[in-house]
Amino acid sequence: MKILSIETSCDETAVCIVEAEGGVESPSFEVLGNALFSQVDLHKEFGGVFPSLAKREHAKNLPALFKKVLAEANFLAEKDNDYSENLWKEIESILIKEKELYPSFRNLLNTIIKPDINAVVVTEGPGLEPALWVGVSFALALGKLWGIPVIGVNHMEGHIASVLMNPESQKVDFPALAVLISGGHTEIVKIDGWGKYKVIGETVDDAVGEAFDKTARMLGLPYPGGPEVSKLAELARTQNIPQVAKLPRPMLHSKNLNFSFSGLKTAVLYYIRDNFAGKYENMTLDNKADLAREFESSVLEVLETKTVEALDETGAKTLIVAGGVIASSKIRETFFGLETARTDLKVRIPEKSLATDNAIMIACAGYLKILNEPTVLSNPQNIVAKGNLKYKVVV
Ligand code: KG4
Ligand code: ZN
Repeated sequence: MKILSIETSCDETAVCIVEAEGGVESPSFEVLGNALFSQVDLHKEFGGVFPSLAKREHAKNLPALFKKVLAEANFLAEKDNDYSENLWKEIESILIKEKELYPSFRNLLNTIIKPDINAVVVTEGPGLEPALWVGVSFALALGKLWGIPVIGVNHMEGHIASVLMNPESQKVDFPALAVLISGGHTEIVKIDGWGKYKVIGETVDDAVGEAFDKTARMLGLPYPGGPEVSKLAELARTQNIPQVAKLPRPMLHSKNLNFSFSGLKTAVLYYIRDNFAGKYENMTLDNKADLAREFESSVLEVLETKTVEALDETGAKTLIVAGGVIASSKIRETFFGLETARTDLKVRIPEKSLATDNAIMIACAGYLKILNEPTVLSNPQNIVAKGNLKYKVVV
């Protein structure tokens, strides 16, 4: 079946069309068209994602990205449609939250022949609610106009499902464990089968990506700082810069699978305060690289220790590690290393381009949902943006 998917939960506007095949044991996906626009440069000056700006930009860019993807998939056939005014009234009310989207949606859709697409899949949460609403409204309007089902999916399930795109390592044996490390979340999820998720560990404060971004800011690096901190840490390793900075390993010995990263961020703040009069301008490149390396090592040690504990506790056969932070080469290497240490374990990590937010992973999660609950294709879902959406099926 052909799925069009939309992701607007944070600062990436993403659309794609995939052809999905196979049963729940071995789903496979072919990307027919894919487009992504990152708003990162716009949010830089705020040092983080500014929700109302994200919403405005999603609404501005979504129609053009959508058209681009249709063209790439060879689905763009243009003609003058004669949709009734009543139908347009309904569409207008679906897009009520996105007033600026209605005219561009109408102009565009009026000239496009309905393509051979079976379902629209959209991220309904978690994420920034105003941003999520843009994708949800667009998807619902499209579903109404073309008379096809719209399916809402959980963004975090998208990150998990992103590993299915790698043909060499698609197989996931259950029980599996997912370690999700992104800008908004840090959690360990036990997976007993697709759609059967249970969070067994999570951060009690900051997410890993958030800690990376805040550390980057303290080092005077631009947003999003995660990749910058990783790059500096890599520099420290390759150039063997002397190891001076020492940071704590928060919750390393706690008797549970939870994390806490806000103390680590504070430790970075104090380190700069005590050694450089609180100013990153007083630090040399070597000082910054040393601190970045120590920060990354601390995060990694905690993540790896908790992951190993969770693997022991659950007897998981597959470890999935996903979310934006897994774009870091050192973190990827460390997690892949677990496969060597535990011969009965398969480690699945999405390729770097699928680690950060994208629409392909949302299509994959949507297809899994369709396979698990085929009725979503015939019974219209009540889809609303949910900033704090949790996993639906808990085992
Ligand atoms: O999954 P994602 O794209 O968005 C959320 O759902 O949050 O993750 C974004 C996070 C940001 O905090 C970003 O700094 C971090 O992932 N990140 C990295 C790297 N690339 C992205 N952190 C460390 N090293 C990287 N190479
Ligand atoms: Zn994400």
